[in-house]
Order: sequence, then structure tokens, then C-alpha cells
Amino acid sequence: RTPQYPFLRHQSLQPVRKLPDALVIGVKKGGTRALLEFIRLHPDVRAAGSEIHFFDRHYPKGYHWYRKHMPPTLEGQITIEKTPSYFVIREVPQRVYEMNPAMKILVVVRDPVTRAISDYTQVVSKNTTIPKFEDLAFKNGSQFGLVDTTWIPIRIGVYVRHLERWLHYFPLKQIHFVSGERLIVDPAAEIANVQDFLGLKRVITEKHFYFNTTKGFHCLKKSEGHSSPHCLGKTKGRNHPPIDSAAIERLREFYRPFNVRFYQVTGINFGWP
Ligand code: A3P
Repeated sequence: RTPQYPFLRHQSLQPVRKLPDALVIGVKKGGTRALLEFIRLHPDVRAAGSEIHFFDRHYPKGYHWYRKHMPPTLEGQITIEKTPSYFVIREVPQRVYEMNPAMKILVVVRDPVTRAISDYTQVVSKNTTIPKFEDLAFKNGSQFGLVDTTWIPIRIGVYVRHLERWLHYFPLKQIHFVSGERLIVDPAAEIANVQDFLGLKRVITEKHFYFNTTKGFHCLKKSEGHSSPHCLGKTKGRNHPPIDSAAIERLREFYRPFNVRFYQVTGINFGWP
């Protein structure tokens, strides 16, 4: 039987740039780069390499601009983009919904106290003159009493507040939560769940990872596209500065009720201290 439109069949073999099917929306310092690098090993996944910031910074440039920043895909491959600020920017959930109400959403979450320290560590690495963590996290002179909830690294960790804004637009079943802690200790198990959520065959397994004792993290064995084993870059898995234990305890107290609500809303106990 001669196909009626052989040229169409031919066309479907050409890679095309599509708007994303799935987004990693956060959280900043949760392990978003690790998640993206691990899931993009899958042959049915193509990911934008850098953070595109379409729904926050570049939204006025339009879908055409966004599509141009997506990787070429073959039929059947899914397109993923990660920009961790999406989770916390007010306008983003509605914009995502308007583009694609079926968008699959991924969020890596991590103990908000560790996340704040990780965020601070990143800031200090770029500007060594900023005050101590303890001086920024608490209101002036309150000696670890009043948490400064206006400081962005603190605000980001109130996950339930941000999640509630997303839930105005997307049902919970369309949002997959990855434990940042488990992603560190057992990446294959977390990636198995991510593959299930995305409707992908479980291709990425423990065989793709090895534990690098020098880095103290799991790294990737050699794979297609990488002729040698490789870890994430130096900016991932940094040493954190020592923080006063009373300050940490006070922050844990501050986050506890928000964490409990977050566990209730998601139905998952992340086990943060
Ligand atoms: P730290 O550098 O504070 O340890 P993001 O990519 O969202 O910025 O998250 C960075 C965090 O990813 C790192 O924070 C690190 O703990 C975590 N991470 C998870 N798996 C990792 C891995 N295999 N290699 C390096 N960092 C990893």
C-alpha cells in the first residue's frame, strides 16, 4: 500500500522545537540541577540546558521566543525546562496554566533550613562582604528571636504558601514532589518515581550512577553523549559555613507549622527535623 502523504511521514522524522510538556519549577537549591541532569539521560526526554526564565522575566516575548529556546525533539520525546524561580513568583502559575493546563509540574523540596543556608552559601560565594547568615535571618538585635520573613532565602522555604498558589490552577496529581534529601542519597529511587510520573519507561536506574567519594555525591557513569563519568559542577554540593546551633533551632521552630501544613496538603511526610 502506498502511503498517501509520504512527505508527512518524512516530516515527522525531522526534529522540531516544541513548547515544554513538563517544568521543574523549583525549589531553588533543592537539587533542581541534579534532577534535570538525571532525567535528561532518558532517551525520550530532551531538556533546555540553561534556565530560560520565560514565565517570569521573558513572558512578554511570547510563546514563539520560548519555543525557540527549547531543544529540538523527535516525535514521542518530551520537552522539559527548569527555572527554579517559577515556584515562588506570583504570576507564574496562571501563565503556565494559560499556555498548557495539562503541564506536568515537578518540584524538588528540601528541608527549608538547609535550603536557606545553601542559598546563603551561594550568595556569599559571589559576594564575600555580605553579613553573617545569622544577622540576615533574624531581625536586628533580636538574638535569634524574630525571624526576618522579608529575607528572600527565608520566604522561599515557606513552601505551603507558594504551593497553595499553584493549587488554584493545577490539581495535586499534576504536581510531582521530589525529596531533595532522597535525591542526594538514592537518586535512582527518586528518578524511578519521576519516570513513572512522566509516563516514561524506567530506563534510568542505579546502573547510571556511582558514588564519588571525593565529591561526596552520586555522579553519572559514562553514558551516550558523555564519554567519561562526570559529576555536577563545583557550585553543586558546596560546603556550608558553620551556623550557630541556637539560630538553626529557632529557624526549625519557625518552619515547623508550615512544614506540617505542607505535609498535609501534599500527603507526603518529608521528615524534616
Ligand atoms: P548544596 O550545594 O548546598 O549542597 P540546585 O541545583 O537546585 O541549585 O540545588 C543544589 C543542591 O543540589 C546542592 O546544594 C546539593 O546538595 C544538591 N544535590 C543533589 N544531588 C546532587 C549531586 N548528585 N551532586 C551535587 N549536588 C547535588
